[in-house]
Amino acid sequence: MSQQAAPQEEPAEPEAAGPRRPDLSIGSTGTTPYEDYVHADVLTHLQHPLSDDPGEMVFLVTTQVMELWFTVIVHEWHTAAQALRRDDLPVAMEALERSTHELEALNAAWKPLARLTPTQFNAFRGALGEGSGFQSAMYRRLEFLLGEKSASMLVPHRGAPREYAELEKALQEPSLWDEVLRLLSRRGYAIPTEVLEREMTARYEPDARVEAVWAEVYAGPRDGELVRLGEALTDVAELVWRWRNDHLVATRRAMGAKMGTGGSAGVAWLEKRASKNVFPELWTARSHV
Ligand code: HEM
Repeated sequence: MSQQAAPQEEPAEPEAAGPRRPDLSIGSTGTTPYEDYVHADVLTHLQHPLSDDPGEMVFLVTTQVMELWFTVIVHEWHTAAQALRRDDLPVAMEALERSTHELEALNAAWKPLARLTPTQFNAFRGALGEGSGFQSAMYRRLEFLLGEKSASMLVPHRGAPREYAELEKALQEPSLWDEVLRLLSRRGYAIPTEVLEREMTARYEPDARVEAVWAEVYAGPRDGELVRLGEALTDVAELVWRWRNDHLVATRRAMGAKMGTGGSAGVAWLEKRASKNVFPELWTARSHV
């Protein structure tokens, strides 16, 4: 065992010098190692409510927290997509499994907003102007990675060049689902060529032949690695569906059938989005196993 020297106690200061005061002056670099890593000072000074309503702060911070979770989840799915491309299933599975825990934390973040009354929401709603989550670039990237591609969803970002460029790139790239189907094809499953060579910028449309492939995978060895991949993707799909539905219910409680700040029909528009299944063939294949 290594002998560690006990920390040296500071020599007592002479009484005459008076009590020692902590040095509160800012260091020469004006930072700490924690700050250099976390940027907490930046992060905790990004809250600028637009109204005097005390309830706006939690709305703003919850939105920021969700943006951070979107960022992590996009990072995980990117990692998973790249790993699938090089047939590295263990790395892809680890990233997907991490993302399910992150999705659970994301969904838990609805708690403080889930029961906003219309009066509480109205107290700061006007200050949001036309601002809406509809304009969230990171959420859009998340949807694109699921195969929910749409060039028209880039329109709200035209005035923000960095967001626009990142979204345009994401629109062109194969989604996580496309990478899964390519891997299944390389493993000998009959994924149709039209599906493999589909237009990447278009929304993925479910295909009966892909459903048949998943039914075949699930009919195979119970603990096979492709079944485990299917289940990890099903967890992701379920948790995304839950986020959409928690959002829908919170919106229904906070504003009923009014129009959204982003100009949509509000709840009616969100209902349509929430009714879609993520990775649809993974759900429909179950009827045939
Ligand atoms: C209770 C508070 C909330 C209400 C009433 C609400 C309302 C709405 C409405 C009506 C829309 C449809 C577009 C529009 O016309 O604006 C929308 C979209 C959206 N909201 Fe919220 N929202 C709330 C909280 C949040 C939070 C905290 C986030 C977190 C980032 C968020 C993210 C989004 C996203 C990403 C969309 C686009 C959804 C899609 O493209 O399918 N919302 N919201």
